[in-house]
Amino acid sequence: MSNILEVSSLDTRFATPEGEVHAVNDVSFHIEAGESVGVVGESGSGKTQIFLSIMGLLAKNGQATGSVRYRGKEILGLPSRELNKIRGVTLSMIFQDPMTSLNPYLRISKQMTEVLVEHKGAGEAEARRRSIELLDRVGIPSAKDRFDLYPHEFSGGMRQRVMIAMALLCEPDLLIADEPTTALDVTIQAQILDLMADLKRDFNTAIIMITHDLGVVAGLCDRVMVMYAGRVVETGGVRDIFYRPQHPYSLGLLNSTPRLDEAGATQLSTIPGQPPNLQALPTGCAYQERCPYVFEACRSREPALQSFGEGRAKACHLERLEGKRLKEGEPA
Ligand SMILES: Nc1ncnc2c1ncn2[C@@H]1O[C@H](COP(=O)(O)OP(=O)(O)OP(=O)(O)O)[C@@H](O)[C@H]1O
Ligand code: SF4
Ligand SMILES: [Mg+2]
Repeated sequence: MSNILEVSSLDTRFATPEGEVHAVNDVSFHIEAGESVGVVGESGSGKTQIFLSIMGLLAKNGQATGSVRYRGKEILGLPSRELNKIRGVTLSMIFQDPMTSLNPYLRISKQMTEVLVEHKGAGEAEARRRSIELLDRVGIPSAKDRFDLYPHEFSGGMRQRVMIAMALLCEPDLLIADEPTTALDVTIQAQILDLMADLKRDFNTAIIMITHDLGVVAGLCDRVMVMYAGRVVETGGVRDIFYRPQHPYSLGLLNSTPRLDEAGATQLSTIPGQPPNLQALPTGCAYQERCPYVFEACRSREPALQSFGEGRAKACHLERLEGKRLKEGEPA
């Protein structure tokens, strides 16, 4: 299969009065056509900034370096005029905050139809029909009647759905979804996830799903990328990561999540401590202060992300992690 996206040695830094924030550190990964990859990690681990860097949408004080190839073409650092030919067309992103991609001064109908007319050469009537159809599919009740409203006339959850519909308008070949369902109620969440699964199946859309919810990853993704302090610390097939995690942080995340096979299971244990300050990362492994397996080498050398088997890689000095996922009620 061919790679849709290839990211190599991506670094993202923010200049702040208190010093430089190292938000994304030497991140490399790829995604193939039709594949879906889950990106997981605690708040502040750099998940969103990786993809804002890729889309050329960093805040003004941010700077990304490295390489991002989309369908073989370098896109990191391209001017907006060039990026606009692919952003929202073949490469779409659903943001945590819907207002990032909705224009508050334009009616939803205008925002949606314009995209289809401009990028797909659709006629006005056809563009209206397809837009309303998509709004229906993401669960906007009476979509036809609401079509001419402005973004602020929708509730938060509805805006999120409108944004998802916008992102799907041109049937992108890569959809980046940043916590797309967190603000929505469970029924709508399930509908949106079904919609994404359909998209993957019917149009071979590659999906990157950024989420705190490992259940979402298990349901939708082929592969998982675990992030810690702006780095990828483990990658692998979804079953490998869930059943045989090889990085202590992945194991910690899994043990702090209800088991997927035990409906209604409660929170088991949390990872003690806090992620490190991204303005002053420690020498050695960034996870050292919280890792139950820490040993001497961890404090002096930073572990590189290394392959160790079919499609798997981890950044940890341990030869092998013998830890296991805890069962409900078992002490951590
Ligand atoms: N404009 C900015 N200036 C300085 N630091 C920033 C800026 N934007 C983001 N950061 C920092 O970059 C780090 C990574 O942020 P990011 O938004 O990628 O986290 P995240 O993994 O998406 O978290 P969450 O799960 O909460 O969305 C954070 O420490 C954040 O404070
Ligand atoms: S390198 Fe050391 S501190 Fe880091 S995760 Fe592995 S064992 Fe833990
Ligand atoms: Mg985020």
